[in-house]
Amino acid sequence: MNEPQARHVPVLFEVVMDFLNVRPNGTYVDCTLGLAGHAEGIVRRLGPQGHLIGFDRDPEALELARQRLDRVRDELGSQAAQVNLIGEAFSRIADHVEPASIDGLIADFGVSSLQLDEARRGFSFQADGPVDMRMDTRTGPTAYQVVNEMNERELANLIYEYGEERRSRTVARAIVRGRPITSTAQLARIVVSAAPPMKFGQIHPATRTFQALRIFVNQELDEIRALFQAAPQLLKPSARFVVISFHSLEDRIAKDSFREGARQGIWNVLTKKPATAGEEEIERNPRSRSAKLRAAEKTATSS
Ligand SMILES: C[S@@+](CC[C@H](N)C(=O)[O-])C[C@H]1O[C@@H](n2cnc3c(N)ncnc32)[C@H](O)[C@@H]1O
Repeated sequence: MNEPQARHVPVLFEVVMDFLNVRPNGTYVDCTLGLAGHAEGIVRRLGPQGHLIGFDRDPEALELARQRLDRVRDELGSQAAQVNLIGEAFSRIADHVEPASIDGLIADFGVSSLQLDEARRGFSFQADGPVDMRMDTRTGPTAYQVVNEMNERELANLIYEYGEERRSRTVARAIVRGRPITSTAQLARIVVSAAPPMKFGQIHPATRTFQALRIFVNQELDEIRALFQAAPQLLKPSARFVVISFHSLEDRIAKDSFREGARQGIWNVLTKKPATAGEEEIERNPRSRSAKLRAAEKTATSS
């Protein structure tokens, strides 16, 4: 069970497959391949005329996804669908996909278990690693630069805005005083001492600050907005768009974008309330606890 794929369980798998309603000859895009759990489900439902296009901006994830999907395609032989994997941010989707060519699109936001579990990626406050947090390890500033170089006021705003941390000023002050910060364990200790848990059973006090840094480093919310902007032109009429978010900032963008699109006649929203994991899935896969799935169908009339 040491293989990352073996440890990885795709969130809300059956619900995703139900909403995508994969047609064997269709073209589907997985914007967030990760370890390709959802992508494998799509490939297994496609026939030889079908096509999966997958994105991940993390080169390690892309490689693992490629290996997994190659194995599935080998197994399916002449019945296997075509697969194209692209190592770029999904905000660039329109550079790679023709207008009105997609039958279904899935995006499962946030970090993968692979990224969280690897201490050297620097996403986790529970493991000691460098303060990195980049999904795309080829480019961009790391969280190290943010915690060591940003001024206190900007840092406080960032932690407030992206972490929804009410004690953001105290945390930012402690970070600035604690410089240089060279490891995630050191960063977590600084946050905990500045903002200790207020009551028993509360989430780990570093959760919000780590989330804020990760969102900022990877420009996660801008990415999601860009995807919602691009999707309507790329989907065929009646095609499905399924998104899974893991915190309120992501879910708010999904909810508002679908609602506004519905008002403009672009989307029929299929989930009045977001779908969530049941007790059994949460037991098996604790990460699914905070997952919220929203799905919409492009109207037949909008172009
Ligand atoms: C939660 S995981 C996806 C898990 C996947 N659904 C599965 O079944 O294994 C999210 C993945 O999306 C990637 N990702 C997140 N934001 C991205 C973006 N803006 N562009 C491309 N990939 C992104 C991450 O690198 C990560 O590998």
